[in-house]
Amino acid sequence: MKKVVLAYSGGLDTSCCIKWLQDKGFEVICFSANLGSEFSPVQLKNKAKASGVSKIYVEDLRKEFVQEYIFPALKANALYESRYVLSTALGRPLIAKYLVDIAHKEKALFVAHGCTGKGNDQVRIDTTVKILDPKLKIIAPVREWDLTSRESEIEYAKKNKLPISISKEKIYSIDQNIWGISIEGGMMEDLNNAPDEAAYVLTKNVDETPNKADYVDIEFYKGVPVRINGKKAEGLKIIGILEELGGKHGIGRTDLVEDRTVGIKSREIYEAPAAWILIRAHQELESMTLDKETLSFKEIAALRYSQLVYQGLWFSRLLRSLQAFIEMTQEKVTGSVKLKLYKGNVTVASRVSKYSLYKKHLATYGEEDQFDRKDAKGFIEIFSLPYRER
Ligand code: ARG
Repeated sequence: MKKVVLAYSGGLDTSCCIKWLQDKGFEVICFSANLGSEFSPVQLKNKAKASGVSKIYVEDLRKEFVQEYIFPALKANALYESRYVLSTALGRPLIAKYLVDIAHKEKALFVAHGCTGKGNDQVRIDTTVKILDPKLKIIAPVREWDLTSRESEIEYAKKNKLPISISKEKIYSIDQNIWGISIEGGMMEDLNNAPDEAAYVLTKNVDETPNKADYVDIEFYKGVPVRINGKKAEGLKIIGILEELGGKHGIGRTDLVEDRTVGIKSREIYEAPAAWILIRAHQELESMTLDKETLSFKEIAALRYSQLVYQGLWFSRLLRSLQAFIEMTQEKVTGSVKLKLYKGNVTVASRVSKYSLYKKHLATYGEEDQFDRKDAKGFIEIFSLPYRER
């Protein structure tokens, strides 16, 4: 029998995929990754078994996701179209990489996933698979079958006695991981509608957030957060604490009309409290520890970097090269930033670094001033020369 490794979430789409692939004559092997959404290995295994799956790999990839994907992106301050922390986009190459590895281990010539034919995720997973092993064949049943609505999928599942659990009516399409949550569909497809308050999962509306601020101190070592409020903690733990604290203060909501790789404009609501807090703190530390030229070039690099992440080109030559540059810039991005969290805002309360390039004796307007003003005149003469000549 032909073997296929399917990226399996346990949801309706991928449950139908199992049956569809089996009907096409495949032996289906499932792979489920925990990137920080609700996740029950036992349930997944039971469900997959009940669908006649020969084998299921269940991997907790949260630590790898933080160390190898999220923190590298944090070092870049990666944001797509200024407002998306790329949470969903960052998870896809990791999932695709495991799909390829498991296919090799199982000597399978096919991999499959449940992405739709309109979104970015198919582009990200397919492209990553093609970069890592161009010989593997990719099957995306949702792109091929004629189950065009959720209702028809439910009917298909019922007809084939697939073990699905349809609890309450699913209004929105949601993707969640450690770095944030993406919510789309339903009434929010109409750009005239404000986001549905009931759709938010992680964050409070600012109308309901505390009237008293919380302060949080984050220490970075070479661009990576290592301590929170003075206590050493793993990345995953730090993100978890900040998600809760940020959510409590309504931080990290964005509502974005974005450009998909397939050319469509779409609207997505995001919640990413931890990401927004960490990016803000990281930027602050860079402002004081990086020189002007590095900072300004890094911003340009980050713009391209973010577009590449969005497009699923994580393993491309250009992205790897930009990452190498970004890594080099982080050598002195070490120090602490104390932030105030209040009513949806993150503001800086204080910052400190032994590598700070801010020199009070140069910046001050007070008596300690050591900047030689007389030099300024000559500097400006030369600086303005081309403009005067023109
Ligand atoms: N727009 C985001 C991206 O392309 C999220 C995609 C998935 N969204 C969802 N609600 N399932 O990365």
